[in-house]
Amino acid sequence: MAKIIDGKLLSAKIKDELKVKVEEFYNKYNRKITLAVVLVGDNPASQVYVKNKITATEYVGMKSLSFRLPEDSTEQQVAETVLSLANDNGIDGILVQLPLPKHLDENKILKLIPPSKDVDGFLAENVGKLLLGQPSTVACTPFGVMKMLESEKIALSGKNAVVLGRSNIVGKPMALLLLQENCTVTICHSKTQNLKEICRNADILVAAIGRPKFVTADMVKEGAVVIDVGINRTEQGLVGDVDYENVKDLASYITPVPGGVGPMTIAMLLENTYLSAIRSQNDL
Ligand code: GUN
Repeated sequence: MAKIIDGKLLSAKIKDELKVKVEEFYNKYNRKITLAVVLVGDNPASQVYVKNKITATEYVGMKSLSFRLPEDSTEQQVAETVLSLANDNGIDGILVQLPLPKHLDENKILKLIPPSKDVDGFLAENVGKLLLGQPSTVACTPFGVMKMLESEKIALSGKNAVVLGRSNIVGKPMALLLLQENCTVTICHSKTQNLKEICRNADILVAAIGRPKFVTADMVKEGAVVIDVGINRTEQGLVGDVDYENVKDLASYITPVPGGVGPMTIAMLLENTYLSAIRSQNDL
């Protein structure tokens, strides 16, 4: 029976530690750390994510600015909003909630965020630095997964890590972070052959493919660490990418959905915002 890595508990601890650091920042620099969130359109899931991000930002004592633009906004309108935040010295982090409505070019909009305010770690400069092993802002979800592994002191060096999914936001940075910890990393995707065999070889298995209960017990090695990044809304409610009920008896560690990686993503967004604020003060 696997030990459950409780992301809700760990994220609460991280947020409480941040609360203290955010207050120290305020006392030292006499300004509130500020995160600006831009939401374009009415995507219901995005609305929930943004609401949770704003609540958490305020919980740790940061200032939260939210900019809601209509679904039919032009690229120029969104660009103007992002540029005004980019040029505002009082703003430490800018988050443009994805996905943007289809008529907008995500890359064009994201590129307007200065890398120093890219608290999502999405920009080429931050991803490139991560690839080169240089200090960078790391995408919140994979950063949160690494914190979960660290919190349980799970040994990574020399282990076989398999990442299911190759998204820019999760799969690719996740693989780089595990590589940095000396894992032997395999990235699997929709064209991968012998997927089951590859997964069965994993000491660390990270599922980030967005398919409910995709990882079944026959794909998991006994004693593997199973990290479930999936958040799938189904008729049975919120379901991960892992068949939790059947896999939990095999794994040594497992993350639940909900209450696993999800809350960690938000905690790491706040951590990244704090780090951006500290860096901007040090650069003055
Ligand atoms: N959409 C889904 N996940 C994320 C995230 O981590 N950041 C942003 N900006 N948009 C998202």
